[in-house]
Amino acid sequence: MPAGRYLSFDEFDQRNDPRDEAPEFDGLVQRALSRRRFLAGGTAAGLTAFLGACAWARPAGAADRFGFDAVAANTRDTVSVPAGHRWHVVARWGDPLWRDTAAFDARTRGSAASQARAFGDNNDGMSLFTRDGRYILAVNHEFTNRRIMFGNRKADLPESADDVRKGQAAHGVSIVEIAQRHNHWSVVLGSPFNRRITPQTPMAITGSARGHALMQTAADPAGVLALGTWNNCGNGRTPWGTYLTCEENFNGYFSSSNSGNKPSAAFRRYGIGNRDWGYGWARVDERFDISKHPHEPNRAGYIVEIDPLDPASIPKKRTALGRFKHENAAVVVAGNGQVVVYMGDDERGEFLYKFVSDGRFKAGDGQADLLDKGKLFAAKFHDSGGGEWRELTPASTGMASLAEICIHTRQAASAVKATTMDRPEWVAANPNGRDVYCSLTNNTHRGRKTNKGGDAMPVGGANPRPANKYGQIVRWAPADGDHTATAFTWDLFALAGNPAVHDDARRGSKNIDQNNMFSSPDGLAFDSRGLLWIQTDGNYSNRRDFAGMGNNQMLVGDPDSGEIRRFMVGPKECEVTGITWSPDRKTVFAGIQHPGQGGNGHFPGGGRSLPRSAVIAITRDDGGPVG
Ligand code: FEO
Ligand code: CA
Ligand code: CA
Ligand code: CA
Repeated sequence: MPAGRYLSFDEFDQRNDPRDEAPEFDGLVQRALSRRRFLAGGTAAGLTAFLGACAWARPAGAADRFGFDAVAANTRDTVSVPAGHRWHVVARWGDPLWRDTAAFDARTRGSAASQARAFGDNNDGMSLFTRDGRYILAVNHEFTNRRIMFGNRKADLPESADDVRKGQAAHGVSIVEIAQRHNHWSVVLGSPFNRRITPQTPMAITGSARGHALMQTAADPAGVLALGTWNNCGNGRTPWGTYLTCEENFNGYFSSSNSGNKPSAAFRRYGIGNRDWGYGWARVDERFDISKHPHEPNRAGYIVEIDPLDPASIPKKRTALGRFKHENAAVVVAGNGQVVVYMGDDERGEFLYKFVSDGRFKAGDGQADLLDKGKLFAAKFHDSGGGEWRELTPASTGMASLAEICIHTRQAASAVKATTMDRPEWVAANPNGRDVYCSLTNNTHRGRKTNKGGDAMPVGGANPRPANKYGQIVRWAPADGDHTATAFTWDLFALAGNPAVHDDARRGSKNIDQNNMFSSPDGLAFDSRGLLWIQTDGNYSNRRDFAGMGNNQMLVGDPDSGEIRRFMVGPKECEVTGITWSPDRKTVFAGIQHPGQGGNGHFPGGGRSLPRSAVIAITRDDGGPVG
């Protein structure tokens, strides 16, 4: 691991499993772009569908639905919100959750013991739950900022066993009661609801893969009880009041003590190799050594269901939702009560999925195991603007059992020739019940390489630009408004781009201009009015292809008019990810992840302080609903 610079997850995967580039790539891009001058009136079928979507228009004289003025792009090292709004920090990496734990010490940066009793690093997806007038926030901690957490060590890497365990304890999920006093939200220290879930927390393995031979390990010969969750990216929540946390880049934690170990094709498909991303977990926790415990990686890459209101509950790894680099989970109850979960697999050329439960949700049923039995599908987007969900079954995939499909889900989706997508990030379902949106964050390999399974990534349809640097938001509507239907129609809500720099397809769609441009849409969520909140994880250099875009940001889109307006700009070198609201919508909570990642930011303390990932609360000065 080179010191001083992180490998991105993409670079890490490429190193573990290199692939050749297509020859004469630049020429291919130029030809493809000139062929597809769709902004001037393209002819490719998928882009025609997209142009159809561009027929959006707010009726003349109608007011826009945004209750705020746009925030200008900037590179300040703080949060910028619209006039008439204010923000404050609710919780930061290292903040204690109990009274017995000392305040964060920026000199030591904590220990394994203090971290296990404190808010984790790199907060991501989150949901706010309520009970009897109390507010309980469940928050994911995706990964650790090694340069910051171990910036007081040589090479910015963990040195002692305690360092490695501290890194582990900074992962997982925090469940924390928060309360608002004098318009300020803060952590309720020592609340009986407070809980840390870490890579060491016991979790039941449920659903199709429970007990399968591939799930059995030395410590758990029955294959029914795993330890922990890590790389928890986006999230979901169920109508029965539970929290879903999604295991994304789970592969980067495994390594081999035997450098001659040859990872299997199944491991390579998931980016599991002999070297980890620098976490060093196998040094203190042998189950992360794939040469000694080759089934352990089969027990990660799932969606975990947690009851946030019962600190004694055992989280459940819901294997029926498939195993891949799960971004988030958008849960919809279909008209007949079946529960539908839309999910993205965030890697270049991986797929979009949906799960449809066999059982039906009835309000008031309480804790349900609806996510254990059902059908799993992968999406095929046709260039015509139509699409279909292809079911993953032993017959359609050639696999031996549903259990195997739920463990080797990527291979199953490849077998049914699902559409290779431009890195599906969050999915969000419109509360109008009719359409569903997904951020396709970028894909620099589009038109250049295959995905890890050898599936082609042709330019076209919902992935219309070669070497896609900016990303797009695709949306689809299930046939007859029925989320259990296998047919859908789709279009593109927005193609991100930079109209200040480009005048070809890279300038973006008609609803992108120099006042709202952004790159790499990632977090997506609808508010209760049906406006779409968009969070970005783009290149924050503010130079060249990204000139004028500034820091990462949060915008609001109107699904009906297509308008998009910038609501917030984050501090330097952060990603904005994770969003939830108070029930009265008077507070929006947003995540500031890895501020100062590149060494040039000090959010939120300012000065020369250590940057710390944080959840912030944004309110209006007049106390009204936000947004
Ligand atoms: Fe953790 Fe795909 O973002
Ligand atoms: Ca993300
Ligand atoms: Ca991302
Ligand atoms: Ca991230």
